[in-house]
Amino acid sequence: ELAEKATFKETVYLMINGRLPNRDELTRFSILLNDHSLVHEDMRSFYESFPRISHPMGILSSMVNALRSFYPELQNLEEEINMTVTRLLSKIRTMAAMSYKISRGHKVVYPRPDLAYCANFLNMMFHSPVRPYEIDEDAVNALRVFWILHADHEQNCSTSAVRLDGSARVNLYAAISAGIAALWGPLHGGANQAVIEMLSDIAEKKNMAHAIERAKDKEDPFRLMGFGHRVYKTYDPRAKIMKKMCDSLLNKLNISDPLLDIAKELEVVARKDDYFVEHNLYPNVDFYSGIVLRAIGIPTSMFTVMFAIGRLPGWIAQWKESLDDPNWKLGRPRQIYTGPPQTQFVPIDKR
Ligand code: SDX
Repeated sequence: ELAEKATFKETVYLMINGRLPNRDELTRFSILLNDHSLVHEDMRSFYESFPRISHPMGILSSMVNALRSFYPELQNLEEEINMTVTRLLSKIRTMAAMSYKISRGHKVVYPRPDLAYCANFLNMMFHSPVRPYEIDEDAVNALRVFWILHADHEQNCSTSAVRLDGSARVNLYAAISAGIAALWGPLHGGANQAVIEMLSDIAEKKNMAHAIERAKDKEDPFRLMGFGHRVYKTYDPRAKIMKKMCDSLLNKLNISDPLLDIAKELEVVARKDDYFVEHNLYPNVDFYSGIVLRAIGIPTSMFTVMFAIGRLPGWIAQWKESLDDPNWKLGRPRQIYTGPPQTQFVPIDKR
């Protein structure tokens, strides 16, 4: 329902505050996000020092962690929390677009006060002094749906990293940086990039049947990217909406993407195969999401950054939930030792 009716900003407000904002609250939230959308100018030199081939997720995780250095802790706890949350929600767009522009040697585009959250990001990504970016409402809407669908998802790998990190009472920038690092993994948020790379490889080699056989082979580390889930043993409801979004967006933008046809065919073929049926493996949120991002013009290397921007309000909401828990303890999972029994030290000349 949120993906159909809400803006991403409203959804963010809902997750951070527990209810949708009224008009005045939304206006005040917009003004706050606008006022904190710039990045400290001294951070530019950080960005410019990364090798041009650096992965945007590595840059984002490092730069979010660096925010504490540029925005020191405020004495008043409530203000510290509110300002840190606001800065993260607003600056993550600017930081993501900056890494893209600088990696291409292009002029950094600043956020604009007259553009709403999603449109502002697209403008920072694609505007150039010689080719002004024309806001495409269909692309903005697709990005809105994409970010809402990614906004939160219970105790997944990266959210657990944020909570565990946060349980040490480290600042929120550092805890979110840990979440970004976990999301980067190809088994988690990095899957959206891996899906497109897999579909492109199948398109080039025309070897769908071989890919399916490799995915089923226990000896082969290859997995069908975008398929399966730690929790969903049925069709990921987000994938259903994303698949519909592919068709409607590509039609509206008058784009045909051969990878969408391959994705659809791969889904049909896999779901007819006993291995995938018996293991309850279905498309997950990442299977079709890359097609939507490609249609918007987002480069593949930035796909997981897009996931991170969407998931940020969820990470913050889950961290706040812990913070509000008076019994929030330092995270300390236990282990059952299964190694060798007590052994004596052996001096090196006797080893
Ligand atoms: C996300 O947790 C969340 O909520 C995450 C997320 C979120 O919103 O935060 O939803 C986002 O991370 C989605 C997942 C994105 N990852 C991928 O698409 C990567 C491809 N998927 C697989 O790597 C795998 O499905 C995992 C890692 C997602 C889950 O793997 P598990 O934990 O092994 O899943 P499982 O226990 O259900 O697997 C059952 C069997 C196993 O074989 P057996 O050892 O029992 O013989 O199915 C096999 C798995 O090896 N299997 C696959 C497979 N996924 C599982 N075989 C081939 N291809 C796959 N994709």
